[in-house]
Amino acid sequence: MNIWAHRGCSQRHPENTIESFTEAIRTEVAIGIELDIQLTKDGKLVVIHDERVDRTTNGIGFVRDFTLSELKNLAIWTGNDRIERIPTMEEVLDLLETRMRKGFLLNIELKTSVYPYSGIEEKIVDLVHDRGLQDSVVYSSFSAKSLMNLAKVDSEAKLGVLDAKVSDCLVKAKGLEYMLGKPDGSIALHPYWKEIDLAKEELENRTVRAWFSGHLFPEKPTGTKMDMSKHADKGITDVFINEPEVYGVNKV
Ligand code: G3P
Ligand code: CA
Repeated sequence: MNIWAHRGCSQRHPENTIESFTEAIRTEVAIGIELDIQLTKDGKLVVIHDERVDRTTNGIGFVRDFTLSELKNLAIWTGNDRIERIPTMEEVLDLLETRMRKGFLLNIELKTSVYPYSGIEEKIVDLVHDRGLQDSVVYSSFSAKSLMNLAKVDSEAKLGVLDAKVSDCLVKAKGLEYMLGKPDGSIALHPYWKEIDLAKEELENRTVRAWFSGHLFPEKPTGTKMDMSKHADKGITDVFINEPEVYGVNKV
């Protein structure tokens, strides 16, 4: 089973921060990191999950109503005397670039379902290509339109379709492949782990990366390992989890 750090190591560290991503590298077990991107008022790519800043920072309002410098004034509580700031995509790539050149993966989820953030696909593709990191990036979104936009900008981009049910992921993936004229089964399925409503044989040998979500930092470390063989039996090939460190060399 391939393990990804979901929003970084987000069970014990504030999600989508340099701290949670640094910890994900330290585990030496995660094959990659999943994170979420949006655009600021002045069109900068920032890494944050919610459309609003309220839950994860000391600010109030929508990400799209803040300029980058205004967002950078907001504090993210870490549970100790340090504070984190909302990272830009560039800052995250600064941190990960060397490792990504050695095969560490990054799943960039475009948060484009609520607000389509015009131009976000071009911006992220340009940034990734400027650094030559395209082979280590998988793009995903709940918005099929956004994935379509992305494929138009970068026909070689690796894509993952997000939805709750794996059957919905499959239908959207096949539809996208058809529309892109590339029915090669290369688009991955990113379902919620409880919604595997197709048999393994029906998943067409696709990559199935299942997400485990739904917590608010700080949440108690569980320190417990899941039985990954149960998930593998259902056709899941990868998991996005909040606490990858319990599977790692540097176990906590
Ligand atoms: O990309 C997998 C997962 O992160 C999707 O759900 O809400 O945690 O972004 P969410
Ligand atoms: Ca996500």
